[in-house]
Amino acid sequence: MSRILVIDDEAVIRMLVMEILETAGHEITGADSAERALTLLEESQFDLVVSDIIMPGLSGLELLGLVQERHASVPVVLVTGAGTYDTLSQALTRGAAGLVTKPFAHADLQAAVSDALDRAARSRDQLRERLLAPTLASALANAIEARDSYLHGHCERLASLAVRIAEELGLSPDEIETLRLGAILHDIGKIGIPDRVLLKPAALDDEERLIVETHPTIGDKLLEPLDLLAAARPIVRHHHERWDGAGYPDGIAGEAIPLGARIVAVADSVEVMSARQLYRQPRSPEEIVAELHHCRGKQWDPAVIDVALALIESKQLDFPPGGLRLLEAAAPPPQTTHVAVLLVEADDDHAAVVTATIERALEGAVVARARTVSDAAELMNGASWSLAIVDHQSPDGIGMEILDILREHDARLPIVMLTGEDSEETAINAFRHGASDYVVKGGEYLDRLTTRVRGLVPA
Ligand SMILES: [Fe+2]
Repeated sequence: MSRILVIDDEAVIRMLVMEILETAGHEITGADSAERALTLLEESQFDLVVSDIIMPGLSGLELLGLVQERHASVPVVLVTGAGTYDTLSQALTRGAAGLVTKPFAHADLQAAVSDALDRAARSRDQLRERLLAPTLASALANAIEARDSYLHGHCERLASLAVRIAEELGLSPDEIETLRLGAILHDIGKIGIPDRVLLKPAALDDEERLIVETHPTIGDKLLEPLDLLAAARPIVRHHHERWDGAGYPDGIAGEAIPLGARIVAVADSVEVMSARQLYRQPRSPEEIVAELHHCRGKQWDPAVIDVALALIESKQLDFPPGGLRLLEAAAPPPQTTHVAVLLVEADDDHAAVVTATIERALEGAVVARARTVSDAAELMNGASWSLAIVDHQSPDGIGMEILDILREHDARLPIVMLTGEDSEETAINAFRHGASDYVVKGGEYLDRLTTRVRGLVPA
């Protein structure tokens, strides 16, 4: 039984909806307005809201928005008499959990409500799983690490390396989540390996080695009853397979080995080589790189090894004494950018004043001046400009057409036109010919020019 809040300003319809849903076994509360419904939602817990759309005061669509904002887990089913395409699409794009059009059959309303309740329950379960799975995986991994003090932090470190490799290889977020679980749980089967073998401070004999080699199958079996961690089982089972097929437990080779297991195999080995173990010191970065090259395409997937080597090469993966460390990719060095400004101005004195203003207004501005329209057209050829400033009075006497010429060369270039006349007609004309802005000379116009060019050329 679910608790449902039914909102309709028309008492007859409200009673009808309440009766239908009560018959279906739900506990129903009614409200005659969206405002009243919001108060009831504050006071008690509901599993679902069923609301009319057109009501005096807040509409059903407005109520939907507010419920999503304040009670995100409560789904809203809307009931409407106006089943226009517009209403339907608005309701759905705003996230209504269902839509019923009046007049409705009892079964339609019951079906819409039970669908919405089912979907809400499923998404609650999924959320719980998403939160619970990593916690459970870490708890299980701790059980292994607790037996061997040298393993402390091993699973977390190798999981972070495995995830970074997976990101570089372009795996999807879901695949990466599964990989993280598999990486943390990969050695969970060691729970079944006796201490005398697992913690032996010397090389293992053949019999002991066979015992250790059972840990992937033990791990796979161990996770079998746990649906929550089922996706990680192929990684746990196959993390000791080899690219050349000489691994265990199944001896599969190449791409027959699940990709997650191939990634964990590399991350596991890199982590183990870089950490202090019971009876040996960590290997140097050079030794690790040499080993990766040596076993590329034999023990390990070459594509995965190439990613690991690239991470080491670019210093995103390094090996300080405490265990491997991952760093973000280095940001590219800051570039000094020049802002190239083309100034088309016949008058030398005015050109000097405008150039000085632009250089003050824009950091790193380099102003190139064209005396005539034909000079300007030549400068435009093949060059990339950040801004053009054009005086209306050009010696060639072609006025606004200079804008057409500049636009023809570069459709996106910001162009400011300077003019002596303050007339609406000139302004309209300038914009019609493609000016981005327009400054009338005289008075404080250099200040205005400063503001306009700063607006047009982002710092
Ligand atoms: Fe293992």
